[in-house]
Amino acid sequence: MRMNNKLGVFLLGLTALALLGAGMARAEDQLDAETKARIDKYEQGPATIDVSKYPQGIQDNYGTFSQKCAQCHKLSRPVNCDYALPDEWSRYVKRMMHKPGSGIDSADGKKIYEFLTYDSSVRKKAMLDDKLAKLSADDKAAAVAKIKEVHDKYDNK
Ligand code: HEC
Repeated sequence: MRMNNKLGVFLLGLTALALLGAGMARAEDQLDAETKARIDKYEQGPATIDVSKYPQGIQDNYGTFSQKCAQCHKLSRPVNCDYALPDEWSRYVKRMMHKPGSGIDSADGKKIYEFLTYDSSVRKKAMLDDKLAKLSADDKAAAVAKIKEVHDKYDNK
C-alpha cells in the first residue's frame, strides 16, 4: 500500500511535468508565422546588456531580469524586442508572470519592470522618444511620469 502511494505520487509528478512541458511547447507552436519571424529576429541579437554605467539598484534588478526571463526563451528575446514604454513593459511582464511555471512573483515582477523601464530610457532612447511622440498629450505625460518615478528611485543611489 505504502509503495503504491509513493508510485502514485511519482506518476502524478511525472504527468504534471509532462503537461507543463507540453503547455510551454504549445504556447510557442501556436504563434502565427509573422510573430514567430519577429521573435526569431530578436533572439539573434545580443543576449546581454552592459549595465556597468547604471545605478547599483538597477544593476541588481538586471540580475533578477537575466535569471527569470531566460527560463523559457533566450534573454536576447526581451533584450532586443521593440517594447520601450512603461505600459508596454508592465503589460508584458505581467503576461510572462502568468505563464505556467514562470516562478516570477510580484516582487520580482516589479524589479524587472523597473529594470526594463530604466534600460529603455537609456539604451533604447531613440525608440522610446519615437513612441512617446505618437501618444496623446495625456498618455505621454503619464508615461513620462512613470519613467521619472523609476529614475527618481534609483539615480545617484
Ligand atoms: C514560463 C515561460 C516564460 C517565462 C518565464 C518568460 N517568458 Fe517571455 N515568452 C514566453 C512565451 C511562450 C512567449 C511567446 C508567446 C507570447 O508572446 O506570449 C514569450 C514571448 C516573449 C516576448 C516576445 C513578445 C512579442 O510578441 O514580441 C518577449 C519580449 C518576452 N517573452 C519577454 C519576457 C520577459 C521580459 C520575461 C521575464 C519577465 C519573460 N519573457 C519570461 C514564455 C516565457
